[in-house]
Amino acid sequence: VDRKDVKRAAVVGAGLMGNSIAQTFAGAGIEVNLVDVGDEALGRAMGMIRSSLEVMAESGKVPGGDVDDVLSRIHPSTDLEMSAQGVDFVVEAVPEVQEVKKETFARLDEILGGEVIIASNTSGLDIYSFAEVTKPERLLIAHWFLPPHIIPLVEVVPGPSTSPGAVAFTAALMERLGKVPVVMKGFTRAFIVNKIQNMIALAVFELLGSGLVEPEDIDKAVKNSLGIRLPVVGVVQSMDFTGLDLVLDVMKSYGFANEFIAGKVKEGQLGAKTARGIYDYGGRTEAEILAKRDRRYLEMLDNLDAMNAFEPI
Ligand SMILES: NC(=O)c1ccc[n+]([C@@H]2O[C@H](COP(=O)([O-])OP(=O)(O)OC[C@H]3O[C@@H](n4cnc5c(N)ncnc54)[C@H](O)[C@@H]3O)[C@@H](O)[C@H]2O)c1
Repeated sequence: VDRKDVKRAAVVGAGLMGNSIAQTFAGAGIEVNLVDVGDEALGRAMGMIRSSLEVMAESGKVPGGDVDDVLSRIHPSTDLEMSAQGVDFVVEAVPEVQEVKKETFARLDEILGGEVIIASNTSGLDIYSFAEVTKPERLLIAHWFLPPHIIPLVEVVPGPSTSPGAVAFTAALMERLGKVPVVMKGFTRAFIVNKIQNMIALAVFELLGSGLVEPEDIDKAVKNSLGIRLPVVGVVQSMDFTGLDLVLDVMKSYGFANEFIAGKVKEGQLGAKTARGIYDYGGRTEAEILAKRDRRYLEMLDNLDAMNAFEPI
């Protein structure tokens, strides 16, 4: 099947993630079989989907404001066998417990015909080391972010046996859903964003434990610095603006080395100031590059101010 022909998907596990992922598929016009182990979980999921759809409708994100139309495409069930029959794509969003995932993969592998992809939403389990499936080429990780119906990113992480076709199909399907897929070349624990987020959490734990700063002031500090820069320059291009020579020296002073950055510095690729760093600025002058960045920073600041983003929720 071509991604355009995905007409029906199954989402297995209707918890926090599964219900919102099902909503995303249904919102894009795809029929969804939503599976859980009990009717209570399914009832709760359908209630949550209705209330998030109502918030989406308030923002004009539901075509025609027709919440019932989207809901009518979601078919809750406790019967995995029936629900996985004839679907074109499967999302696995059962609890982050190896045995539960393993059992779910095995059952899906048995029920699903042909090349139907099984996309696991695991947060970091190395499913490739324990999944017992006859067709490992169709198993991959597609990792969504809470709340999936709003946050665009889906990290697509193939295993050693995943077929390139399955990866490309999944990435294209995510785009059809309005998501932004980022494809990794292989499995690493915590993927991209959680790896970074975990390091942030460690720093926050240290600061909270130190008693050197009030908790609210940590957020005030971050919102008034990184919070403005991150959406514009990310965490990698940001280094080009610091200057890779300085980045290297600072990291050295903490006792860290990095071959990748050291290599750039050796080549004289220092970032914006040399029009080439980790990014290539295509021969623009430093002033041109900084002006483009600063216009975006100013716009970001105005937008954040206008929506009171500096106030806590
Ligand atoms: N919560 C997050 O922020 C987040 C973010 C990204 C990924 N994930 C991952 O998504 C997956 C689901 O997480 P969640 O937060 O939605 O968990 P959750 O506990 O809210 O939902 C899991 C659901 O699966 C159901 N379930 C249990 N066994 C099942 C089975 N055999 N078949 C079908 N359904 C079954 C449970 O009843 C529950 O409703 C986990 O792998 C988690 O690591 C979570």
